[in-house]
Amino acid sequence: MPRPSGKLKVAILASGRGSNLGALIAASALPGAPFCVAAAISDNPDVPALARAREAGIEAIAIQRQSFPSKAAFDAALADAAEKSGAGLICLAGFMRVLSPAFLSRFPGGVINVHPSLLPSFPGLDAQKQALEHGVKITGCTVHFVDDGVDTGPIILQAAVPVEPGDTVELLSSRILAQEHLIYTKAVEMIATGQIPFPHPGRPLLSKTKE
Ligand code: GRF
Repeated sequence: MPRPSGKLKVAILASGRGSNLGALIAASALPGAPFCVAAAISDNPDVPALARAREAGIEAIAIQRQSFPSKAAFDAALADAAEKSGAGLICLAGFMRVLSPAFLSRFPGGVINVHPSLLPSFPGLDAQKQALEHGVKITGCTVHFVDDGVDTGPIILQAAVPVEPGDTVELLSSRILAQEHLIYTKAVEMIATGQIPFPHPGRPLLSKTKE
């Protein structure tokens, strides 16, 4: 994977608010950061995520599904944009579309995601609501490699977040989100510094990683 100037180049795909994108950009701007953000790509031109990237001087690219005759053509355009940015690592950060095996095959073992639950519990949409409805006492967030399932790939890092009495989806989500920002930046740093096998061969991460 390309690493000009010694830093791992990252492309971030986001569909909305972009707080994880913001956390990654902020971490990449710290002195000695082992990665840089090469591009932000969204399926919606009007989202805060792209505005945040532009404010940070990062290339912000909108690629809309309706501009393409098929999902295959749309996914190919997403992959072309990510590849053109020179990114070696693709970070999904609230990207609301499932990427096809054809997209993933362009970056084998090189796509990661953050999800607001302790996977494999509560994959898919509304993970925080699912956790509250199940009455779990501890939930959290997960950074994982992306495979062709939904929220099923090898787990990189997790953080636990206790459910408090009287929690609402909003309260719980905001406490989980704070942890997402921490573990997402840490996971990218660990990948960029060679502490995680990368590109990932697709097996569960069982070996001890340095804290
Ligand atoms: C986060 O909760 C993330 O776990 C999920 O989508 C949300 C994105 O939030 N995949 P943001 O756009 O990064 O603020």
